[in-house]
Amino acid sequence: MRVIIELDAELASRRCARFVADLVRKEPNCVLGLATGSTPLLTYRELIRMHKEEGLDFSQVTTFNLDEYVGLSSVHPQSYRQFMQVNLFDHLNINPNGTNIPDGRALDFEAHCRQYEQRIHDAGGIDLQILGIGSDGHIAFNEPGSSLGSRTRLKTLTSETIRDNARFFGGEDKVPRLAVTMGVGTILESRRCILLAFGAHKAAAIRDTVEGSVTAQVTASALQLHREVVCICDEAAAGLLVRRAYYAEVERAQSLLEAGERTQLGIGNQLG
Ligand code: GLP
Repeated sequence: MRVIIELDAELASRRCARFVADLVRKEPNCVLGLATGSTPLLTYRELIRMHKEEGLDFSQVTTFNLDEYVGLSSVHPQSYRQFMQVNLFDHLNINPNGTNIPDGRALDFEAHCRQYEQRIHDAGGIDLQILGIGSDGHIAFNEPGSSLGSRTRLKTLTSETIRDNARFFGGEDKVPRLAVTMGVGTILESRRCILLAFGAHKAAAIRDTVEGSVTAQVTASALQLHREVVCICDEAAAGLLVRRAYYAEVERAQSLLEAGERTQLGIGNQLG
């Protein structure tokens, strides 16, 4: 896993937005996997700026969101559909028919989840998945104990997640108890993932995810099995990582490679 540690959330989000923008420019009809929560907000703000000021074109992009609360209609202010409209889609030239979010009011969830997986498959799979992380190390709504091979399905929220999200609903008793979420297995099939984390309250989850064992108790740790993951955090979220110096070394080497400074890395040198 590549670990990029930036000074603050602003710089980290700009870095993330650059990864997204590079892909959209290279493959205008790419498929993006999107996340909700406070973590990706600055990334979305930067993408909106790039669209408005630099003409970043989203007209052919398809998106799939990770999850949605069960019981909330698409126009409920706390629904993830509303979140995405207000914080991203309404400000881009994206085709509304190309934006997919699970339906929290589906009548037959089993069929709906199957169809959601099928839609991802029919779109050619997700090229780049953006992820936040819960304070208990969950991705999407794959709470601790979720099977690491799980697919899109209904999930019962833990009391910790309900508590974390109560601030948006004005009280724990108003938070939905269930969500429909992509599975860990679904997420692992994305071609690339970016995991974002900001703040000291995410430090333990990031330590367990990056340097802990792969376990269903920390579903983000399954990303260690993925072939291309970049974890971008701020200093606070990286606060408990033991191998920080090495991650910085890797980034230095990466920058030299990107700048074409190969000899400084010993490439082409006769070392002995
Ligand atoms: C919810 C979402 C996750 C998100 C997490 C963290 O559980 N389903 O996708 O990563 O919250 O939210 P925040 O970014 O607000 O800390």
